[in-house]
Amino acid sequence: MASKQVVLITGSSTGFGRLIAESLARHGHTVFATMRDPGGRNASNAAEIRALAERESLPLNILEMDVTTDASVERAVNICVQQAGRIDVAINNAGYALIGLEEAVTTEQAQQIMDTNFFGSVRINRAVLPHMRRQCSGLLLHVSSGAGRVVFPAFGFYCATKFALEALAEAYHYELAPQGIESSIIEPGAYQTPVFGNMLKAADEARTATYGVASQIPAKIDKILNTTAGNPQEIADAVLAIVETPAGQRKLRYRVSPSDIGVDQINTLCAQIQQRLFEASGIAADTAFVQRSAASSKG
Ligand SMILES: NC(=O)c1ccc[n+]([C@@H]2O[C@H](COP(=O)([O-])OP(=O)(O)OC[C@H]3O[C@@H](n4cnc5c(N)ncnc54)[C@H](OP(=O)(O)O)[C@@H]3O)[C@@H](O)[C@H]2O)c1
Repeated sequence: MASKQVVLITGSSTGFGRLIAESLARHGHTVFATMRDPGGRNASNAAEIRALAERESLPLNILEMDVTTDASVERAVNICVQQAGRIDVAINNAGYALIGLEEAVTTEQAQQIMDTNFFGSVRINRAVLPHMRRQCSGLLLHVSSGAGRVVFPAFGFYCATKFALEALAEAYHYELAPQGIESSIIEPGAYQTPVFGNMLKAADEARTATYGVASQIPAKIDKILNTTAGNPQEIADAVLAIVETPAGQRKLRYRVSPSDIGVDQINTLCAQIQQRLFEASGIAADTAFVQRSAASSKG
């Protein structure tokens, strides 16, 4: 098993982020559980996490962070590095869902969800990478979704944020490997977290009303997701296993889901096509990282 890691997690107030924070800390990793407004709207979540840390003597710290603000991200990353002396793992988990017909999503709603679900990771990665590059080690772990590989109608903007995240994380995977830094993606299926209750709705209801039978799609998707959702501790356990996988042996993608909708098939095919692309373009001949990434995608 890898040595104890210093881990920063975004969106740790509830759901996956909180379970990941608690699970990693219980296994001895030093965790910086970041969240928005721990002194206000998340005060009770922060108090519960602090109480757990005290009761079980866990290396579990809370930091304020809003992933939509550069200054907030930089401040939290700096505190983490000052206190722990390093940063080994950054888990890009913060995010939310938006449901509704795409034409009914306003430009402002589209920009806001991209700002959290995609640009949040851009900010985190840019803030932590100088530290990881100095260490010549590190893991960027991105919480994507099956919706980052397969498109659900009425979920188009959420899918767009996760497709964008997948592209960014994969490009980082190829670029950073020669420096000893890994970029991986976990693709959860549907799990019972507050994400469904927190889901925003497309704001332009007048447009939705003009869609006839298709206007029923959002309600159908919502029902399917809610009824198939699994136990979110599965994701925390999977993240623990990824964090504890020795450096250099982690895969690019991990699909973890209570149901099989074909995401593994897509991932296998995409890995083969990427490999062919690298071989045809000569990149594979120049570098070791493509061979390594091809080997890891088979694992
Ligand atoms: N549950 C599922 O079925 C599922 C499936 C696939 C992927 N995912 C992904 O898993 C991740 C975690 O979601 P979850 O299911 O655990 O739902 P959740 O309990 O609603 O957690 C979402 C977290 O993101 C935080 N967040 C939202 N905007 C933020 C911002 N601007 N800055 C910092 N934190 C912010 C929330 O914080 P606040 O408390 O401040 O709002 C909350 O802590 C998301 O990226 C989601 O897309 C979930």
